[in-house]
Amino acid sequence: MPRIDIVTIFPGLFEAFLEESLLGAARREGRVVVEVHDLRDFATGRHRAVDDAPYGGGPGMLMKPEPLVAAIESLAGPKGPERLARVLLLSPQGERLQQAKLAKLAETEYIVLVCGRYEGVDQRAVELAVDEEVSIGDYVLSGGEVPAMAIVEGLVRLIPGVLGNPESARTESFQGGMLEAPQFTRPAEFRGLGVPEVLLSGDHGAVERWRIEQARTHTRQRRPDLAAETTEPGTVRQSKRKES
Ligand code: ADE
Repeated sequence: MPRIDIVTIFPGLFEAFLEESLLGAARREGRVVVEVHDLRDFATGRHRAVDDAPYGGGPGMLMKPEPLVAAIESLAGPKGPERLARVLLLSPQGERLQQAKLAKLAETEYIVLVCGRYEGVDQRAVELAVDEEVSIGDYVLSGGEVPAMAIVEGLVRLIPGVLGNPESARTESFQGGMLEAPQFTRPAEFRGLGVPEVLLSGDHGAVERWRIEQARTHTRQRRPDLAAETTEPGTVRQSKRKES
């Protein structure tokens, strides 16, 4: 069964997150283990400090290396080929998360998510104990807790059996590099707005063609970066290299 451990100085933030919704059900059904660890339990000294001022000056505080490395090593073991888990540090400095990366991570049996806080983390802790840094986007949050939740949620729905209908994971946005077509439910008319006729037609082929066309149009308009990368279904991407 996949296992995810989370290291944080705010374990309370995860309480409701772990109990509710798909994730709560998946845990209760024994499809995934998610545990939260308080970084302060690994701090030593009278004040159990987990942060300190940066060498060289500058605003704010940094996460101290000792408790972080102790926490990570107690869970995953020392960094190296024998290590039990893949250790990710959530940080705006990391590689930006995409669906393809989530799909790859979903194949990993044991992941440790380390939530950065303050102005950052002592670089030696990163070097000694972290396998990779991951960012959830080009914006700065106050810590890695919300990004860790994003990763857990993105991963758990990829575990077989977690989604009621496995079709959902295959047809949604970014699957195949495209956004989804717009969707509608009842009523058929709402505040003067109707539903595209084709969706009421019962013609599954026509619905499928309409959805693909809409997905293409939306992707081109909203995410031209994605559209440029997308290989249209049934076509082979042309090699950019000229024949010599
Ligand atoms: N911590 C603060 N901002 C973050 C981001 N965008 N991604 C991951 N961790 C973060």
